Amino acid sequence: MSRDIARSGPQILVTGMDGQLGRSLQALAAQDLSAVYIFVKRTDLDITDAAALERWLDAHPADALINAAAYTAVDRAAAEPDAALAVNAHAPGLMARCCAARGMRLLHVSTDYVFDGTSDRAYRETDAPGPLNSYGRSKLLGEQAALAAAPDAIIVRTSWVFSAWGSNFVRTMLRLGAQHDHLRVIDDQIGGPTWAGHLAQALHRLALKSQASSAAAPALCQPALHPNGNRAASAAPSSVPGGVYHFAGAPWVSWHGFAQEIFAQALELGLIPRLPAVEAIPSRDWPSPEPRPANSRLDCTQLEALLGPLERDWRIGLDQVLRTWNARPGPA
Ligand SMILES: NC(=O)c1ccc[n+]([C@@H]2O[C@H](COP(=O)([O-])OP(=O)(O)OC[C@H]3O[C@@H](n4cnc5c(N)ncnc54)[C@H](OP(=O)(O)O)[C@@H]3O)[C@@H](O)[C@H]2O)c1
Repeated sequence: MSRDIARSGPQILVTGMDGQLGRSLQALAAQDLSAVYIFVKRTDLDITDAAALERWLDAHPADALINAAAYTAVDRAAAEPDAALAVNAHAPGLMARCCAARGMRLLHVSTDYVFDGTSDRAYRETDAPGPLNSYGRSKLLGEQAALAAAPDAIIVRTSWVFSAWGSNFVRTMLRLGAQHDHLRVIDDQIGGPTWAGHLAQALHRLALKSQASSAAAPALCQPALHPNGNRAASAAPSSVPGGVYHFAGAPWVSWHGFAQEIFAQALELGLIPRLPAVEAIPSRDWPSPEPRPANSRLDCTQLEALLGPLERDWRIGLDQVLRTWNARPGPA
């Protein structure tokens, strides 16, 4: 657990500090002085432990809680339903109840895998979910539990997260590219790779804005029906209505296109000596334990209307990640 007492602004708690998003929020907090961040890792707080959560929140009064902790092993979730449900479905409801009782705002992160991927356009917040796999079902239950317990909770769905830390597609591609001259990568799943640094920035801005009262909101107003289909809490009119928002990287790309750009940038930076051949294949030629949606595109219009333009270009995030690794002995 770490605490930065030299700053001012809202106090923001972050669970899951050692994950991709948690580490990216730590990097942001080291640069940005507009909030006081307090981070906690799994060994100091298991988010499924209600009593421990209550104790920790009581010991750290704050304005907002960002839940960056999750069970993210997509292909293991079906075999470990209790673990996936405890972290992804039950804990968000628990956190929302605890936050509501303390007047704190919960910002919880969810996934594109709540959708079945059959839409022919980018998914909007109001589109019906229909998860294809156990992980997606557990995350959808978590969204519903959080909003049921705290209608002012903010759910941010994102997709294809990568960073300089942890396991992710960029690291996997560079490892495989170092071992093989020829790779086969799926080209019929389309989405927005999201640099965790950009996701951290979006959550930070949301957290700051969620602390501001809405100038337009009259005192004692009724809960407003927001375009995202959820109601803002009536007690504390905020400029960020509770509900679901989408945030993902741009432009849209397939896993195959993403892999090509990873190798092109890595070659240019001298991280790899040669380009491997990257063959485009359909998903059916790469059987995975759990199905994935073909269309993972998330429409981010709603969030940008609320916050203004957001940094979302994953190619810039990729450059940051590769330069970080270039400054070290290697990505592994
Ligand atoms: N990764 C993606 O491609 C992706 C895509 C869409 C949405 N998302 C969502 O984005 C969010 C951030 O993902 P990420 O990639 O940063 O995940 P990540 O790197 O897997 O990090 C998750 C963190 O949660 C911690 N954690 C797991 N169970 C916990 C528990 N019971 N109590 C406390 N901490 C626990 C893990 O601890 P340990 O380090 O000890 O395991 C880990 O540090 C998640 O909500 C995820 O569902 C991710």
